[in-house]
Amino acid sequence: MALKSYTSTRIGLMARMREGLHLYRQHARDIPEQVRITISRLRQLEALVLEHTGMTVAKQRVLEIGPGQKLRQMIYFACHNDVTGVDLDVIPTGLRPGPYFTMLRKNGVIRTGKTVTRKLLGLDSQFTAELLRQLEVSRTPRLDIRQMDATKLAFPDRTFGFVFSASVFEHLPEPAKVLDEVVRVLRPGGSVCIALHLYTSDNGIHDPRIFSGNREGIPLWAHLRPAHAHKASPNTYLNKLRLGAWETLLREKMPTVRLERMQYAKDYFLEEAAKIRDGGELADYSDEELVTVDLVAIWKKPEQGAGE
Ligand SMILES: C[S@@+](CC[C@H](N)C(=O)[O-])C[C@H]1O[C@@H](n2cnc3c(N)ncnc32)[C@H](O)[C@@H]1O
Repeated sequence: MALKSYTSTRIGLMARMREGLHLYRQHARDIPEQVRITISRLRQLEALVLEHTGMTVAKQRVLEIGPGQKLRQMIYFACHNDVTGVDLDVIPTGLRPGPYFTMLRKNGVIRTGKTVTRKLLGLDSQFTAELLRQLEVSRTPRLDIRQMDATKLAFPDRTFGFVFSASVFEHLPEPAKVLDEVVRVLRPGGSVCIALHLYTSDNGIHDPRIFSGNREGIPLWAHLRPAHAHKASPNTYLNKLRLGAWETLLREKMPTVRLERMQYAKDYFLEEAAKIRDGGELADYSDEELVTVDLVAIWKKPEQGAGE
């Protein structure tokens, strides 16, 4: 299944307008704090990569799958590495009109409208300026951004030393194909770090109201509870894979992969899940599925001749 953009969901006009408001709230809310969280999570991931593979992510040829419009991880890694980012969506970096027309043609009016609005409001540039400030870097490092579908990477085998991806795999209709490509373009001895957002987490439905912190009465895990499922809806394509299916797939493609289940505010969510279970709901989901927000996969590709 080929998508024009991962935002290609059909929702009505009113829902789109409401989405716009919540996206604005999400992106405009406390930018320094958003940046602080971004950097601290990236440092946490780098520490896990070092722990599990022995690699320090510096002076590497890096590939990022799905850097998105903010380019936040790409900028972070480009401070110490040579980074290429590939995204299904066109990522315009300046105000030249050409890329926006290409985006309109390739990714459609919704994707283009959202990006243009964010640029006009200056939200992306404010985020970048704050990111550079907190990273103590004077200007944006060189970025090589290409519009490309990650199921068909236009790079030779063994090109990259480190492949990174955050919050992308849950949006892929064919994640197995992308994993095959990741393994192919990684050099022997190189490392992978993939962080994906679990559908079964409370905000796994990707409803902008939940992300913006204005839930408007949407109950916890609404999308997994038949009586409340109509109250939350995604604004992007989601493959809805569950924890067990992800772990099986990742182990199949990268046999020695280390999997980390990232759980934030775990005690709160466990308590709330227990209350909901008392009412007879969520019986099909384990506590681990409900409280794990991101699944992180870290893998070192065996050196040539290492038996794999
Ligand atoms: C939720 S955004 C995440 C952006 C960024 N990684 C972040 O954490 O802010 C998902 C990104 O994945 C990209 N994407 C979705 N499917 C893709 C594909 N098949 N190939 C490359 N990029 C893809 C989307 O265009 C989008 O920019």
